[in-house]
Amino acid sequence: MEAKIVLLPGDGVGPEVTAEATKILRTVADAFGHTLTFTEALLGGIAIDQTGIPLPDETLALCKASDAVILGAVGGPKWDDPNAPVRPEQGLLGIRKELGLYANLRPVSVRTALAEATPLKTHLVADVDMLVVRELTGGIYFGKRDRGQDDAGEFAYDTMYYTAAEIERIVRIAAVAARSRRKTLTSVDKANVLGVSRLWRATTERVMAEEFPDVELENILVDAAAMYLIQQPARFDVIVTGNMFGDILTDEASVLAGSMGLLPSASLGDDGPGLFEPIHGSAPDIAGKGIANPIGMILSAAMLCRYSLNLEAEAAAIERGVDAVIDAGARTADLANDTSQALSTAEMGDRIAAAIRSA
Ligand code: IPM
Ligand code: MN
Repeated sequence: MEAKIVLLPGDGVGPEVTAEATKILRTVADAFGHTLTFTEALLGGIAIDQTGIPLPDETLALCKASDAVILGAVGGPKWDDPNAPVRPEQGLLGIRKELGLYANLRPVSVRTALAEATPLKTHLVADVDMLVVRELTGGIYFGKRDRGQDDAGEFAYDTMYYTAAEIERIVRIAAVAARSRRKTLTSVDKANVLGVSRLWRATTERVMAEEFPDVELENILVDAAAMYLIQQPARFDVIVTGNMFGDILTDEASVLAGSMGLLPSASLGDDGPGLFEPIHGSAPDIAGKGIANPIGMILSAAMLCRYSLNLEAEAAAIERGVDAVIDAGARTADLANDTSQALSTAEMGDRIAAAIRSA
């Protein structure tokens, strides 16, 4: 097959890990006889530096005309001034919204060989295999907001707003995923306090009863969810939740896997290209050192094969390559016991590419 892929390396460690995802996709394309073309474009801080805006029109047009988008990371201290008129994160939120990517899939599983890397007791994480489905284009990230001055002094507000239709479509995505897994869906909300959460819960219950009677639904409050993720993480199969709760809980869940650097994500809409990014962010403290873990990005490339190109065998080949090198003891600095033995970003990519080629 032929596919057009847009690369948005972005900021911080983004370019370093994106290069490894490209390496792996080229390796898979070679092995399976596909033609992938890669075009690079600007997003985030680097786009602000070069064009003055975080999501240039040209970038958006290229993405819209592509089959899939690979994103490294955006943001960093250079652009952190809270009074700056534009911020890199606006580019990321903008591209999610413009491409209609309302469903963010964040799988979290624990590889046996890395169980000792998590800060939790090993027996607690042994059977962790969950998928968090985070709503990505609504909620408090996109609600009405303001900041100003009135009689009470300075004020600011952001509003958490969801329509039933937005809730229905994300619940369907999560329920379909649950159906092909352990058939349990956990919906996370704050229905004891928030009106928007009561709509979330009522809508979820209705969709599940009407359309997914074969999938078990449990509703839990976000504060309890935060606790269970640490106390009994293996109890979760598929979690569905709103934009901000999903943001927070997936950082927490990432710790279970041993390093945030391991975790991929896919952002999908009803049609058009998907966007694939690691969940780790720009990691400015290690940017430019060539030591970032590329596995989250590489596993995101596997998700790209699976969800945007419909290439399941290729996705599985990448995932097996990652498993093989981890089982063989390959570690970047975030996971290494002895950091003097740690692999660089590019070395880890090379090992995985070699594992794919020799499979
Ligand atoms: C994420 C990130 C982003 C988010 C930031 C960078 C805007 O934390 O993808 O989880 O909050 O969605
Ligand atoms: Mn986040």
